[in-house]
Amino acid sequence: MVIDLRSDTVTLPSPAMREAMYRAEVGDDVYGEDPTINRLQELAAELTGKEAALFVPTGTMGNAVSVLAQTGWGRSVIVGDQSHIYRYEVGGASTLGGSPMWVVPTQPDGMLDLHDLEVGISDGSDEHSAATALICIENSHNRCGGAVLSVEQVESITGLAHARGLKVHMDGARVFNAATALGVPVSTLARTVDSLMFCLSKGLSAPVGSMVVGSKEFIFKAHRMRKLLGGGMRQAGILAAAGIVALEQMVERLAEDHENCQKLAHGLADFPQIDIHPERVVTNIVNFSVQHSEGERLSDAETLRFLDHMSEHGVLAGTMGEGVIRAVTHYGIEAEDIDKALAGIRRALIDMQI
Ligand SMILES: Cc1ncc(COP(=O)(O)O)c(C=O)c1O
Repeated sequence: MVIDLRSDTVTLPSPAMREAMYRAEVGDDVYGEDPTINRLQELAAELTGKEAALFVPTGTMGNAVSVLAQTGWGRSVIVGDQSHIYRYEVGGASTLGGSPMWVVPTQPDGMLDLHDLEVGISDGSDEHSAATALICIENSHNRCGGAVLSVEQVESITGLAHARGLKVHMDGARVFNAATALGVPVSTLARTVDSLMFCLSKGLSAPVGSMVVGSKEFIFKAHRMRKLLGGGMRQAGILAAAGIVALEQMVERLAEDHENCQKLAHGLADFPQIDIHPERVVTNIVNFSVQHSEGERLSDAETLRFLDHMSEHGVLAGTMGEGVIRAVTHYGIEAEDIDKALAGIRRALIDMQI
């Protein structure tokens, strides 16, 4: 059996999800009449401590509706250079919303430096620059190896933003992983952000769907933006039913994914050819690179060959570019699969003669 560590998006719905989907009561959600979607939205708002929630098909659309609802044409949004919003969402804020992105360096721990933010904020008094409306943060941070921003780090950014009249959006595609790692409820982590997007379809294993949460006023605007983007679905309670199971049954088990990821990271650290920092692994993502005996990292082409060898030995992982390999643990991956994955990686290293 293949051990697929490419992403937690490869998770399959649980039997309880399939059952709930089969039985879901549905209606036309564009009329607000789908009882299952309405229940999912209430549950999401309650769990995150926000007034209201909106079901959207994807995390990308959830981030787009949030940014569009909180900026407005010609007003800028500050993003980290390693953020998903900046790198992997086709520049939605700018291409769809007419909001220029001001890019600051993402720190290795996923944080945005407060001084960099101060420098990037424009109050619009200078006619040469777009007035800033929003700061986006990501928690946990995908490209930073699943790094987690603490409650204090989040609040230092929201404190600065609010003092300058700006909003903060948290891309929390994996916010339940972040909260699990910190041992706090998501509502605590999200308390001071103005909007939060989280995915049901990643570690929580639902087949489709993400949630956007925030104030009633924000959700009203986000709803309009969802319509603009063509995200108004009809009897989508069939999908929301799986989302409810995700929130009710799949959050607690995330700690298992984190333990498996730790096990993988420590196992990888035993290979002298692998450069890895197991102490940085706090959620379900581990980044590592392979190096030649002289300490030089594999080139991108060599990394692809290494991934091919891993695949021949039944282990799938992905590359983040620059020789960085990403592996993600999730529902369906058990502790013994980690031993098998490490054995496959050992064989791939032998195949590459490094
Ligand atoms: C941090 C982060 N934000 C947003 C998304 C987008 O989610 P989706 O694939 O559902 O559009 C992802 C997906 O991998 C992600 O990792």
